Amino acid sequence: MQKKSKYILVAIILLSVFLLSYLVYTVFMQPAKTENQSRVVLGTYNLPQAEITSGMSVDQAIKNRRSVRNFTTTSLTLQDVSQLLWAAQGITDSERNYRSAPSAGHVFPMEVYLVAGNNGVQGLEAGIYQYNPYNNTLEKIVDGDQTHALSQAAHGQEWVDQAPISIVITGNYQKMKDKYPDENLSTRFVDIEAGHIGENIYLEAVARGLGAVAIGSFYDDQMINLLKLPSNETPIYIYPVGYSAS
Ligand SMILES: Cc1cc2nc3c(=O)[nH]c(=O)nc-3n(C[C@H](O)[C@H](O)[C@H](O)COP(=O)(O)O)c2cc1C
Repeated sequence: MQKKSKYILVAIILLSVFLLSYLVYTVFMQPAKTENQSRVVLGTYNLPQAEITSGMSVDQAIKNRRSVRNFTTTSLTLQDVSQLLWAAQGITDSERNYRSAPSAGHVFPMEVYLVAGNNGVQGLEAGIYQYNPYNNTLEKIVDGDQTHALSQAAHGQEWVDQAPISIVITGNYQKMKDKYPDENLSTRFVDIEAGHIGENIYLEAVARGLGAVAIGSFYDDQMINLLKLPSNETPIYIYPVGYSAS
């Protein structure tokens, strides 16, 4: 074979390998579809004002905090829900709209959702709600009891199914990246922020005589579909909350 023909053959083989790899990647290895899903607000519900009433010291709440994975069927009150969401992302400085959890560069890229089961919260229909910290409201985005679907998304962890409510934390990595273009840095900032919010939920739950567990193990695509998440939001944490049965 002539030298030129050999080069052509090698080029054809390399091109074929490249095309095959591309085909395998696009067909089998692409992440789950996360396009903007149509989301309609089905209703807006006022939350009671959060109060600073627990009387439990931070030291005691830290001392008592334990992950709870066995819940009673006792419903939570709207006040419980309001306190938990306020602890997660409530506005604590209304002049600057700063929140209960710290945020790198005060970007505030996080969103918080409530998944309420049947009789999960007194006076609130089962469904999935987005917390609006600016006017202290819940915006319903999915009707009906979705706790079983949520537990399926969380690899079938039964405490998710059992808890009267769960709080889901999502993060907008692009929003942070817009301010901090270094991808590692901005990703780290969002992940750390989710941890701050999660610890606030844990401690608020303890202070109200409730229990919670951090769930970081779930199928992203199922969470995205269940919560009808827009393409710029990534689910990071689930926090089932309720009264401990143990
Ligand atoms: C990032 C992260 C992810 C976690 N994911 C899960 C989970 O998917 N399921 C679960 O039951 N617990 C999960 N946990 C809770 C840990 O198992 C728990 O914190 C640990 O066992 C220590 O117990 P403690 O929280 O009572 O101190 C997670 C905790 C963290 C910090």
